[in-house]
Amino acid sequence: MAQGLHLIWIIFCVHLICISSQQETEFIYNGFRQEDLSTDGVARILPKGQLQLTDGSGQKMGHAFFKKPLEFTSPESLSFSTQFVCALVRKPRFDGGHGIAFVLSASMDLTHAEATQFLGLFNISTQGSSSSHLVAVELDTAHSAEFDDIDANHVGIDVNGLTSIVSAPAAYFSDIEGKNENITLLSGDPIQVWVEYGGNLLNVSLAPHKTQKPSQPLLSRSINLSESFPDRKIFLGFSGATGTLISYQYILGWSFSRKKASMQALDVTKLPRVPSHRANSKRPPPLLIVLLILLGVIVFLALGAAYLYRRWKYAEVREEWEKEYGPHRFSYKALYNATNGFHKDGLLGKGGFGEVYKGTLPSNEQVAVKRVSHDAEEGMKQFVAEIVSMGNLKHKNMVPLLGYCRRKGELLLVSEYMPNGSLDQYLFHEEKPPFSWRRRLIIIKDIASALSYMHTGAPQVVLHRDIKASNVMLDAEFNGRLGDFGMARFHDHGANPATTAAVGTIGYMAPELATMGACTATDVYGFGAFLLEVTCGRRPVEPELPAERRYLIQWVCQCWKMASLLGARDPRMRGEISAEEVEMVLKLGLLCTNAVTELRPSMEEVVEYLNESLKLPDISPNSPGIGTFTPLMIGSNSLLASPTTKTVSASFYSSSSANDSTFVTHSIVHGHGR
Ligand SMILES: *[C@@H]1O[C@H](CO)[C@@H](O)[C@H](O)[C@H]1NC(C)=O
Ligand SMILES: *[C@@H]1O[C@H](CO)[C@@H](O)[C@H](O)[C@H]1NC(C)=O
Ligand SMILES: *[C@@H]1O[C@H](CO)[C@@H](O)[C@H](O)[C@H]1NC(C)=O
Ligand SMILES: *[C@@H]1O[C@H](CO)[C@@H](O)[C@H](O)[C@H]1NC(C)=O
Ligand SMILES: *[C@@H]1O[C@H](CO)[C@@H](O)[C@H](O)[C@H]1NC(C)=O
Repeated sequence: MAQGLHLIWIIFCVHLICISSQQETEFIYNGFRQEDLSTDGVARILPKGQLQLTDGSGQKMGHAFFKKPLEFTSPESLSFSTQFVCALVRKPRFDGGHGIAFVLSASMDLTHAEATQFLGLFNISTQGSSSSHLVAVELDTAHSAEFDDIDANHVGIDVNGLTSIVSAPAAYFSDIEGKNENITLLSGDPIQVWVEYGGNLLNVSLAPHKTQKPSQPLLSRSINLSESFPDRKIFLGFSGATGTLISYQYILGWSFSRKKASMQALDVTKLPRVPSHRANSKRPPPLLIVLLILLGVIVFLALGAAYLYRRWKYAEVREEWEKEYGPHRFSYKALYNATNGFHKDGLLGKGGFGEVYKGTLPSNEQVAVKRVSHDAEEGMKQFVAEIVSMGNLKHKNMVPLLGYCRRKGELLLVSEYMPNGSLDQYLFHEEKPPFSWRRRLIIIKDIASALSYMHTGAPQVVLHRDIKASNVMLDAEFNGRLGDFGMARFHDHGANPATTAAVGTIGYMAPELATMGACTATDVYGFGAFLLEVTCGRRPVEPELPAERRYLIQWVCQCWKMASLLGARDPRMRGEISAEEVEMVLKLGLLCTNAVTELRPSMEEVVEYLNESLKLPDISPNSPGIGTFTPLMIGSNSLLASPTTKTVSASFYSSSSANDSTFVTHSIVHGHGR
């Protein structure tokens, strides 16, 4: 009874072992972990789960085995079914090789085998030896003539040696096409492989990734595996090898079962991806990289230079204190575009202060842009404040100042465009028809009105400082418009801010200007000179003329003394002439240019005299101060003739510059001939 029980127990145990041993040799790996396999050589399991048999180095091999052997009790009981997915990736710029093999081996130790064409399976001495106890299914990507390889892309079954007992070019039977389709082992894409054994028949099938298992095997060969493994113990695994031909060789998943029916098929979507070597394969040659970098640098530099050029081209000076003048501030770019890049076709004229260009703003408004170069930043704030406040002055006989722009060493003033130019052209230039007396008187009254407004009508007293025919502009109806106010003052700032300089144009400058500075009376003096200039059609000082006619004031007075005051008038004057008016204006001119400051009328009175609402005071050519011209002598006579603005200040003497350009003398008044 006890014996019978014991026997039953033993039978039960044996049965249990059988079941467990059978279950142990059934597994599925969708990707691997380190502990799943025993690896040697360069084989290793990558973090993402791929089994990498060879790593892209040459003359290397790697092995990986399932740790527990497959054991069988009788030859009949040996059968198995396995599926794995591999990927063979050619090393960039190398020929791919040599290949991998699915290995059935009596031993896990293949470390004495050789790489290259031996595929990590055999060495010289074990190759072809029946004591090797090794069967392999090779996926061979090299053509080794010594082992009778058929090509460099074949599958073969090897028993104890590398000369396959059967082999075929890599292909699979396509049920759809009804024929074999080629497979390129070294495509780098995953390839499915099935190896099945049962009833002494070993079947091998291949299929591309995501393709069903073919209905017919590629290789089917009868083998008695029991003969190769007399110990009835088989280790299952993989081998891979490289030589001078190099590939990365991967196993991505592996499923195994002793029974065909219970083998789980691999789920290709769950497998790890083939590591990418494409980035490397696309790497362009170093020379190209250098050229590309060079090109990039050149483009970058060009863009940088273009940017800097634009910045330089449109550079402005803009300071905190200018914020309140925002509306009066023009951008340099806007002016540059308005004047067509300050093109010489738009040049209206060159004056003592700089060049004047005609421009058209985007609003279609026509403007005159005056470019004034200056060096001194000092006093700029005050000057801009004056400019802006003058821009706020509104009088129909003033040229409206629209705004300004500052650049380094340059100031740009924007005013309304006056279509008919400046008055001096109609007085002195032969090509323009000389104005009639009527027109001249209207313009004289216009300017008197503007100047009177500046002196008394405006919120604060504004001095013009440089009244002369060339600063009187003509609008479309030929009305007189006073322009360029304050410019003389600016010139002063630019020249030498440290001195209080007398500024203006020789011939229009009151004698006391050099010593006392500017005031409304000096403007009145300038206006007097302007009256004589317009009436007589000549400049206040003309050095070429004989001495008695050289200075206009003296000459007009002389004519008066000789009782032919009317004779001083412009002989080119056209149309009807009112002798009374001409004489009145000439006398007023002499009154305004009185050498004695206190005896000059105010601008308000001048306006009334011109309107004949007030009678001229009773003066004669012999009245004190009348007809006395006291030229501000500066060095040579030719300077006196120049119609441009001068700065004269009471310090030391040093002349500069040429004829028509702006010039500055920090000096005076040598031959101050009183
Ligand atoms: C070949 O391998 C066997 C073991 O597999 C080893 O004993 C032998 O020394 C090797 N021969 C050579 C030439 O490496
Ligand atoms: C091998 O393939 C043949 C058909 O070619 C088939 O009859 C046989 O059952 C297969 N053997 C195994 C073990 O799958
Ligand atoms: C296979 O080989 C074993 C051992 O040599 C033998 O016992 C068995 O009968 C053979 N099987 C066949 C089908 O030849
Ligand atoms: C004066 O300006 C008007 C308006 O632009 C123009 O029609 C006329 O031709 C100009 N006269 C002269 C002499 O330039
Ligand atoms: C200005 O100078 C140039 C050359 O120095 C000369 O040709 C020209 O005649 C001068 N003009 C006057 C108005 O003096």
